[in-house]
Amino acid sequence: MSEFSLTIEGLSAQKAELSDADAELLKQAGKAASSAYAPYSEFKVGSAVRLENGETVIGSNQENAAYPAGLCAERVALFAASTNNPNVPVSTIAVTVKADNSHLNGPLTPCGGCRQVIMEYQNRQQSPIRLILAGKDDTVWIFEDAAVLLPFAFEGESLKNS
Ligand code: THU
Repeated sequence: MSEFSLTIEGLSAQKAELSDADAELLKQAGKAASSAYAPYSEFKVGSAVRLENGETVIGSNQENAAYPAGLCAERVALFAASTNNPNVPVSTIAVTVKADNSHLNGPLTPCGGCRQVIMEYQNRQQSPIRLILAGKDDTVWIFEDAAVLLPFAFEGESLKNS
């Protein structure tokens, strides 16, 4: 038997320290959060996806009375990006939340399902997707590669016949 451990490498910054491009993307994510349809959770999430062709595609969470039918902001944005710009790689995803009553003050970290979806696109494009995660307070977490947020990801490669 042998032990192993994993290290997550990320960057913690203040909003004011972001580059102009990253600050703009986070601003777009914030705007997207305002358009969330979240009457049940009142947890309004916004996501902005920057593509390598310079386009930005936004998404917000869309809830439903039948709860599991709703979708997270990250997936709304990524699916729209892939639909409207097939085969254009994603360079960065910014995510933030507007939720006055939430205990969460720091950066919103994507749910497991969204991490899985981000990894699918990262594997498809074979280049890393950056993540910029923010919330109510001034802290921003930046990850240069989405893979660090989903160790031991289940990948399509596993489904191939040997
Ligand atoms: N939500 C997102 O949009 N993204 C996440 O990464 C976490 C959760 C949404 C789903 C639901 O509409 C609300 O936040 C509460 O879970």
